[in-house]
Amino acid sequence: MINQNGSFGFYDKHIFCCTNERKLGHPRGCCAEKNAFKLRAYMKAKAKAFGIENIRINTSGCLDRCELGPTMVIYPDNVWYTYQTREDIDEILNVHIINGKVVERLVLKRNQNELHKAND
Ligand code: FES
Repeated sequence: MINQNGSFGFYDKHIFCCTNERKLGHPRGCCAEKNAFKLRAYMKAKAKAFGIENIRINTSGCLDRCELGPTMVIYPDNVWYTYQTREDIDEILNVHIINGKVVERLVLKRNQNELHKAND
């Protein structure tokens, strides 16, 4: 059945936040060591506080973009983000989930393999 947004999806947005954990010193690092658990929990609580319905914010295993983490991907949009702070999460919820626009400064491009510096 096609939902009100014209897709077959059960949720309007399905968000996967990598919380993969590796041993300290692993060359690729991991999202867990970059506060991914707490930020994902914050995102869930904030989405609820905003009254956002029909989305799901799941933990995921490694999304294979470890050096750029913490990482998340939002489907069905297939938009990938890096984030580091609660303010980043607030912006993703406000701009992307509520207003349907991409937070360009946090997007991970398909071929990107390093993070941009603050003034890039
Ligand atoms: S550990 Fe998060 S993307 Fe690999």
